[in-house]
Amino acid sequence: MVVSVVLLWVCFCMLLFLIRTRRPKHFPPGPQTIPIFGNLHQLNLVNPVNDLQKLSDRYGKVFSFYFGGRPAVIITGMEAMREALLTKALDFAGRPGGVLLSHLTQGKGIIMADYGPSWKEHRRFALITMRNFGLGKQSMEERILGEVSYICAHLEKVAGQTIDPQTLFHNASCDIICSIMFGSRYEYDHEFFQAMIKMMADNSKIANGPWGMIYDTMPLLRNLPLPFQSALRDYHTVKMHVLDIVNEHRATRTPNEPRDLIDGYLDEVDKRGQDPAPFDDSQMLTMLLDLLFAGTDTTSNTIRAAVLYFMAYPDIQERCQQEIDMVLEGRDQLCFEDRHSMPYTQAVIHETQRAASTLPLSVFHCTTKDTELTGYQIPKGTLVIQNLSSVLHEETQWKFPHSFNPNNFLNEQGEFEKPPAFMPFSIGPRTCLGEGLARMELFLILVTLLRRFQFIWPEDAGEPDFTPVFGVTQAPKPYKMVVKPRTITAN
Ligand code: HEM
Ligand SMILES: *[C@@H]1O[C@H](CO)[C@@H](O)[C@H](O)[C@H]1NC(C)=O
Ligand SMILES: *[C@@H]1O[C@H](CO)[C@@H](O)[C@H](O)[C@H]1NC(C)=O
Repeated sequence: MVVSVVLLWVCFCMLLFLIRTRRPKHFPPGPQTIPIFGNLHQLNLVNPVNDLQKLSDRYGKVFSFYFGGRPAVIITGMEAMREALLTKALDFAGRPGGVLLSHLTQGKGIIMADYGPSWKEHRRFALITMRNFGLGKQSMEERILGEVSYICAHLEKVAGQTIDPQTLFHNASCDIICSIMFGSRYEYDHEFFQAMIKMMADNSKIANGPWGMIYDTMPLLRNLPLPFQSALRDYHTVKMHVLDIVNEHRATRTPNEPRDLIDGYLDEVDKRGQDPAPFDDSQMLTMLLDLLFAGTDTTSNTIRAAVLYFMAYPDIQERCQQEIDMVLEGRDQLCFEDRHSMPYTQAVIHETQRAASTLPLSVFHCTTKDTELTGYQIPKGTLVIQNLSSVLHEETQWKFPHSFNPNNFLNEQGEFEKPPAFMPFSIGPRTCLGEGLARMELFLILVTLLRRFQFIWPEDAGEPDFTPVFGVTQAPKPYKMVVKPRTITAN
């Protein structure tokens, strides 16, 4: 039934819109388009990676593609990426409107907010406040290490068994963000925590899948009772619950003694006096949900990838463990500063991020004015897709572009060195706002795990499979692992 309604609508739209989409003058080259679908019919919507690879092989580093009637420019390779995001930073710093995600957020908050004063001030606020959380009662480091102790407690309970770590890492990443925003973490089976986790999972499934693509490219179908309606509804439900938490904060806070990000925001509103714009409740709620969305899947999928690599390369795992044991000898607590004495482990963590390419296409950008890139002309309002994954595997930039090899980040003296093509957090004015936090999380979590446990690929599980599941955030396929507690020598 639903399918036939959709088909009927599609035919109807075809008749309505029998106009040819033509590329503007001097626009980057790309495949022939047809009305309505643009180039969509040339893609496998469930996993477009291979199809897109063929296009970039054929049309070059900067090429175009039509999502329905909407032109997009895809940027491949480090040189073009730097020209767009650094040299012409402001021209490329917009976000597209009119897609499912920007409708969910109504263009507020940070991630999907277009370039402008509201985005700028909220981004600045979030960056500064999260940095200051080192000054509050509990530093960022303590919050993360607190969560790590829950992860370890869980793993100790299931030691020797074969388990899938996906929800554990996911819950922990989500809880670290909760602790920063709300002042406390949740038990993993807390009702609100469950609802939030489920909403995020359902929404990213819809936004990443064919339904999201249909929503984004065929506006006429948006009011039909299709699955994206439930995405909009669930988002609203969680938002209303976060509003309750905000109101609780209002009632219990001491001005200028922020316990968390919400208190910080309320202080900022006070400080702005009569006219706090663009700061208001609705912006705050969207910003909070943005941070949850941006900080949960990304971090947990990277941790999951790291553990998969530890198991696939036991020699690399062991070498990290030797380095960690040596540096931490006789100490209980790890700190973020220790990274400077662990070049090999640092290299392995960075190599994991390179190989995992967690956000392979970054977050879509949009041009803020008519501009130029590698000699092509790109009009204002064009969708821009950064292929970060192409830079992370670019043959001219890496010693070992296609294999998992920590030497990509070690110089001849065995010191840690970060090549300029390492940009999993993107570059330029829109670069990941959580980079500092994410790097701290990855280091503290992975080093503690390596110190306390040995990760073993189950004997009956076949070969480790590195083919990622495609999505806006790319993740390893679900896998099983065995954990064995290590005895920490020397105490
Ligand atoms: C390993 C973990 C992470 C990776 C790989 C990652 C990567 C990225 C990337 C590629 C972007 C898009 C940048 C662009 O559009 O040019 C982004 C944006 C963003 N990330 Fe992250 N991220 C991670 C963790 C986090 C965490 C923990 C937080 C939250 C606290 C966070 C918050 C954000 C926000 C708010 C944006 C939007 C920035 C803007 O539009 O101005 N991310 N991230
Ligand atoms: C991005 O680059 C990678 C590696 O070069 C390629 O496999 C992928 O298909 C590209 N994606 C797009 C959207 O061009
Ligand atoms: C993670 O949280 C979800 C939702 O609350 C829960 O169902 C799951 O059991 C939790 N996972 C672990 C390992 O505690």
